[in-house]
Amino acid sequence: MSTPGTIRLDVHLTGADADAALRADVARGLTARPKELPPKWFYDARGSALFEKITELPEYYPFRTERALLADSVADIARSSGADTVVELGSGSSTKTRLLLDAFAAAGTLRRYVPQDVSESALRGALDDLRAAYPRLALHGVVGDFTTDLHRLPGAEPGGRRMIAFLGGTIGNLLPGPRDAFLRHVRSVLAPGEQLLLGTGLVTDPDLMVAAYDDAAGVTAEFNRNVLHVLNRELGADFDVEAFSHVALWDAENEWIEMRLRAGRDMRVRVAELDLDVGFAAGEELATEVSAKFRTEVVDAFVVAAGFEPTRRWVDPERRFALNLLTAV
Ligand code: AVJ
Repeated sequence: MSTPGTIRLDVHLTGADADAALRADVARGLTARPKELPPKWFYDARGSALFEKITELPEYYPFRTERALLADSVADIARSSGADTVVELGSGSSTKTRLLLDAFAAAGTLRRYVPQDVSESALRGALDDLRAAYPRLALHGVVGDFTTDLHRLPGAEPGGRRMIAFLGGTIGNLLPGPRDAFLRHVRSVLAPGEQLLLGTGLVTDPDLMVAAYDDAAGVTAEFNRNVLHVLNRELGADFDVEAFSHVALWDAENEWIEMRLRAGRDMRVRVAELDLDVGFAAGEELATEVSAKFRTEVVDAFVVAAGFEPTRRWVDPERRFALNLLTAV
């Protein structure tokens, strides 16, 4: 049983684990055809700061749209949910957390907040800030990877229910196979009646979507190239980072934005710590992220297939983003 006002931090992912995962992803991705790198490696300190800058760009509507939608609907969400524990996946330094906590506190049900993130430092910082603002709340941070470590989340309190929040549209960064596996994994750690609050970007005007991932100030381009800085630093690679240009396109068939890095000339890159040499032809592209946008029928289909019932949905007036409250069946 969690005690009001206590803080606990469980570390299930060490620096060594993250390093091993990075090595495996890079060894596989740079020898694949076409070459690819998973988007999770964007987020070192510089990448996280660049993402924060992206959220302030005029073109990047998803962040503002979800925040406004959450502000408008969170009292409703808290009343519909009734959960005593709010779990937030990939919480980072989230500014949306307080909206959730205030509403669940006002609804009178909230006892415990469980932020989960891969970054121990981000989590410690967030927990310290929250302690001051919510002195009676039990805080239980979990350092881990949300694609693999959900079974290590704390269980429900006796007689209580958890709601897992997965916001930001990050579900769209998973390809369909991993996305469905992730949702089944979430479902498997919940008891019937427990919930998932899922933020999903919706399919909207292609020009608007592309601009959100190809801003005029070039912040997203820097964010995209940052993954090469991460490889240079962490794996002793020698990417000439500025020789890669940012590509963002709308794939109408798959209904996702795809980001790539395009080599500006023929190159040979050495990744010293993997003893790996990789050739790039001029114009060759390295795939770095998909950000899928959904139709509400598609969301309903994949959540039902994973064992959830769509309980309620809130959509912004321009129909660009949805918050989906789902109940484990
Ligand atoms: C908020 C992590 C889901 O896909 O929109 C922003 C990340 N990538 N600009 C998204 C991102 C390029 C983002 N997520």
